[in-house]
Amino acid sequence: MSQLEMFMSNAGPPSAHALAAQRATALRAQLLDHSYRYYVLSQPVISDAEYDALTRELREIEAAHPDLITPDSPTQRISDGISEGFAKVQHPQPILSLSNAFDAADVRAWHERIRKYAEQQGIRGNFDDLVVEPKIDGLTIVLTYENGLLTQAATRGDGNIGEDITANARTIKSLPLKLRKNSDDFSFSILNSKFSVRGEAFMTLAEFEKYNIAAFAAGEKPLANPRNGASGGLRQLDPKLTAKRPLSILCYQVLSAKSEVLSNKELLSTLDLALSTQRSTLNYLRELGLPVSPIAQCFDHLEAAIGYAESYIEKRDTLGFEIDGMVIKLNDLVLAEKLGYVGRDPRGAVAFKFPARESSTILRAVQVKVGRTGAMTPNAVLDPVQVGGITISNATLHNYEDIARKDIRIGDRVLVKRAGDVIPYVAGPVLAARSGNEQVIVPPTHCPFCGTELVRNEGEVAIYCPNPDCPGKLDRAIEHFVGRGAMDIEGLGEKIVAQLIDAELIADVADLYRLHKDALRELDKFGEKKAQNLIDAIAASRERGLARLLIGLGIRHIGEVSARDLARHFGSIDTLMQANVEMLQHIEGVGPILAQSVVDWFSREGNRALIEKLKTAGLKVTSNEAAMTTQPAVSAAPAAFAGKTFVITGALSKPREEIAAWIEARGGKVTDSVSKKTSYVVVGESPGSKVAKAQQLGVTILDEAGLNELITRPLG
Ligand code: IVH
Repeated sequence: MSQLEMFMSNAGPPSAHALAAQRATALRAQLLDHSYRYYVLSQPVISDAEYDALTRELREIEAAHPDLITPDSPTQRISDGISEGFAKVQHPQPILSLSNAFDAADVRAWHERIRKYAEQQGIRGNFDDLVVEPKIDGLTIVLTYENGLLTQAATRGDGNIGEDITANARTIKSLPLKLRKNSDDFSFSILNSKFSVRGEAFMTLAEFEKYNIAAFAAGEKPLANPRNGASGGLRQLDPKLTAKRPLSILCYQVLSAKSEVLSNKELLSTLDLALSTQRSTLNYLRELGLPVSPIAQCFDHLEAAIGYAESYIEKRDTLGFEIDGMVIKLNDLVLAEKLGYVGRDPRGAVAFKFPARESSTILRAVQVKVGRTGAMTPNAVLDPVQVGGITISNATLHNYEDIARKDIRIGDRVLVKRAGDVIPYVAGPVLAARSGNEQVIVPPTHCPFCGTELVRNEGEVAIYCPNPDCPGKLDRAIEHFVGRGAMDIEGLGEKIVAQLIDAELIADVADLYRLHKDALRELDKFGEKKAQNLIDAIAASRERGLARLLIGLGIRHIGEVSARDLARHFGSIDTLMQANVEMLQHIEGVGPILAQSVVDWFSREGNRALIEKLKTAGLKVTSNEAAMTTQPAVSAAPAAFAGKTFVITGALSKPREEIAAWIEARGGKVTDSVSKKTSYVVVGESPGSKVAKAQQLGVTILDEAGLNELITRPLG
């Protein structure tokens, strides 16, 4: 009965039980649909975390109303879907899962629960003896070795029956096809028997990125994330395709080691001993030559284990592969076995899940922001969603070329990612979730702030507002000026900059030096002390000197290194303003692009007026660095990148200008477009079409690490 029918029949408001029943039915239908998309279509439309949340809600309802549990509820079976195309494999024992904990309190509750349970059941053991391992975000593989040889590899499937993916697993280079036999230890007689191990297969971040760069260059669909890469890879019907996505594996559990050959009692007990704790199991697996996690560690009390697990929330990016949490396990496996299971989850271990760093949500609109250089960045307005532990309602869409390439549309369900310090970004649309009503995103032709027609430089993906006085740039320009690397004015954050502009107290950076305490005190949330501190901080910045000022002015292509070189060489802004392109290029590390950019900037009337205004405001416009009058302008030492031409594309760890300046400082030239003369294309995240061009022309492609390596390795 629907709520409406209930109302019509005068049956009164639905009871809590009826609402729970309705919700449970809806959740089951959703979960069924999502697991079909995940397992059968390999095209999930929600993230694992969202799937977990739905499952959790259903579990909670079923726990409160056990009569609502149906035999077909997704909570009642281990896993869904075995696709056609692979032979079926019966697992030696059910492939179990783990219950989840989402914070330290959940882990403590798990520990408390199992200790109480053990007490009730009269089970004894050491519950403080624990092992912590990474929870690898990959796919379970069940490996079978017979007489020491790999004879079978299977996916988890429904937990009892998996798919035979032996041929695909053989492409995993770190997986031994033959176990090592180098000990006279009795337990190695396992090599004469049938032996099943469980591990997690995954794609490293490096392999994932490499794959996507190549896929992009070849015009193929990129992988959404390493996990999809691994799952798709293992389920290829042609192992050659699997080999194209190099996978790795880490093993963590022995599933069965029984054999007729092992009838000898003494032998069995030695083996039992080796497998009686998680720690010795991991050691044993390692000795057999199987890859085991290098960061698994033992602890003798819960809080230490929790502390170690939590430390990887910060350190997860150092691993080189994705984890979605850490697993805390009782070390004593005999004890764990006695404790048994709840549904499909063993009591003796718990998954401490980390906040998911990707999620999906709806893209509602695109807002354009102007950067300080005039580059128009499209920004996504999203339905709020939790990513990596914070709520996100805005994310960058990088640039319009990226939007077109990924075919992102307004109204799309989109994948939002956030890793480490990286600002949240829209990774792509969930195509399977399209309704057909989504709208294509059209790049603007005119600046939304000043109406000027936008321009696009050849070979660059960004579109620019060429108006140097565009009011849209003011916020960013001032934020940049006061920033750490520039004039370093403490206490002048984004919000206050916006406040000052809104109150019309500043219209350019020079106005900062004319601010009066009384005017500041009229602003919202400004007391005497705060106003005075800001005035003092601004005053102190007058002495930063020429190099910092040059950075602060935001002249394109000037980075930290070139700013210092220019300041040293010219000594004062007056001399610098008079330099022409040729004179500028006499400085080591100053290439034609940078030189032209400086000349262009100082030739603009508005900029010259700004410099005058800054001088009047008492700014130091001479160099703080020692003048290098005795030093020849061009160093005699051969520069590392002399004669080499670089093109930079995509987002790197530092602003592009800085990387360009760094290359130029080493004698290299940085240009905007790829040609046969280009020596290297340096590729960051979300690169533009230059990668394809580079591949076409056979130009060497480097990532940032590769660029750094060039310095230590002689150039070819
Ligand atoms: S132990 C009885 N250890 O996480 C053993 N699982 O959410 C249960 N996983 O299905 C699994 N790394 O696929 C275990 N170090 C690890 C793991 C791990 C990843 C996966 C595994 C499991 C899922 C549970």
